Amino acid sequence: METFDVLVVGGGPGGYIAAIRAAQLGLKTACADDWRGADGKPALGGTCTNVGCIPSKALLQSSEYYEQAGHEFADHGVKVKGLDLDLAQMLKRKDKTVKSSNDGVAYLFRKNKIQFLPGRASFVKTAPGGTELRIADQSVLAKHVIVATGSNPRKLPGVEFDEKLILSNSGALAIADVPKRLGVIGAGVIGLEMGSVWRRLGAQVTILEALPAFLGGADEQIAKEAAKIFAKQGLAIELGVNISKVTPGKKSVSVQYSAADKTVKTLECDRLIVSIGRVPNTDGLNAAAVGLKLDERGFVSVDDHCHTNLPNVWAIGDVVRGPMLAHKAEEEGVAVAERIAGQKPHVDFNTVPWVIYTAPEIAWVGETEQQLKARKADYRAGTFPFMANARARALGEPVGLVKFLADAKSDRILGVHIIGPYAGELIAEAVAAMAFGAAAEDIGMICHAHPSLSEAMKDAALAVDKRALNI
Ligand code: NAI
Repeated sequence: METFDVLVVGGGPGGYIAAIRAAQLGLKTACADDWRGADGKPALGGTCTNVGCIPSKALLQSSEYYEQAGHEFADHGVKVKGLDLDLAQMLKRKDKTVKSSNDGVAYLFRKNKIQFLPGRASFVKTAPGGTELRIADQSVLAKHVIVATGSNPRKLPGVEFDEKLILSNSGALAIADVPKRLGVIGAGVIGLEMGSVWRRLGAQVTILEALPAFLGGADEQIAKEAAKIFAKQGLAIELGVNISKVTPGKKSVSVQYSAADKTVKTLECDRLIVSIGRVPNTDGLNAAAVGLKLDERGFVSVDDHCHTNLPNVWAIGDVVRGPMLAHKAEEEGVAVAERIAGQKPHVDFNTVPWVIYTAPEIAWVGETEQQLKARKADYRAGTFPFMANARARALGEPVGLVKFLADAKSDRILGVHIIGPYAGELIAEAVAAMAFGAAAEDIGMICHAHPSLSEAMKDAALAVDKRALNI
């Protein structure tokens, strides 16, 4: 039986990054993954690469170009005649982007001498010298196992994904014809991103959200701004709904729900995306065979170091507690590989950024203003609108704002919240600042290129001390 120092189960961003780091540290490493592409061949990269972050960003970009060509180019003096949507090409390009990422991971495995074991791994038993697992028709012995099996879309009770009419994240990325009426259940990250894609391509989109507040995890001021902008774009978002029945017909779906005012309503749509969160994936893992502990919600139980209840078995990413974000999984993967190699790494969960790739983008790191109020923190806020930023105006995207929240006494940055152009890129400066324990004044003192969107960061940081320069 072949023996490895480290066997990573799952080849998504958590798993493949963990495998690369383990191999860099000189550990004999393998990674098992059973994802297959449309051609039936192994497709490394997990949900993120195959049906998540990467294809959604490809479609977000393409659909944004289409929208800009139709509605915004004219303002720049660029006239487009006979604008036409070639959806098949758009989807083909998205698939090509995915394939190049699959190939990229396979290349990194070869480069780092990581053995790729195609197939679903399942625990067999704890054996002398490690843990025995079965992958396809092969048994392997691993001194350390890293479980990085990710998550699956959460279903509405009794409502199956057929990926034709009722779509999960996978189906939402592959609709062959733009639906006239698209229903979305859940105004979270997937609902907003995919709702935006199909709205830009011509669908009339209605999003039904259970919670009474829009984007509850975001800073309230940013969420309010987002709600205004999305409504103007034509995304219909209904809050505080309670879905009672979803009835698929031959060509359409009927969603019955009670609205916030308790009236019973029906939404008829040609396609329905259900994006109400995700559940941990331990399918086929056979956790019971080795006594691997799962919590009551099905997550693999881990401590702060991603250690499970079993010696030398670790778990990272969506299958454990914490936000289901690719970059959080990656950080955990690196840290676990380093711990196995005897190092003492640290993952700071307080500086994990969030990005929603709508237009404009929404991004944040650290605490929101409502969280600070709830814990009665003494803080100061500084905001700066992109309207007053020259680069944003030149780009034609003077929307949104940057908001800094800093400790009133020490000025240490507690949170940064952005809605605006390239917010997902701008947030990196805030993450770096918070990771280094910077004060808002530190950002205000750093030279930022002119004209650049990043100047809005500097001005918002200066606004904490009421001395923004450009407003
Ligand atoms: P989510 O947790 O972001 O949003 C789910 C939404 O559905 C919530 O607002 C919730 O209140 C609502 N909801 C739950 N049950 C409902 C019901 N019965 N009726 C109506 N609304 C209901 O989950 P989402 O959008 O499905 O995304 C899944 C995961 O994927 C998230 O954890 C997210 O972080 C991750 N993801 C991250 C992206 C990014 O970082 N840009 C992009 C896409 C997904």
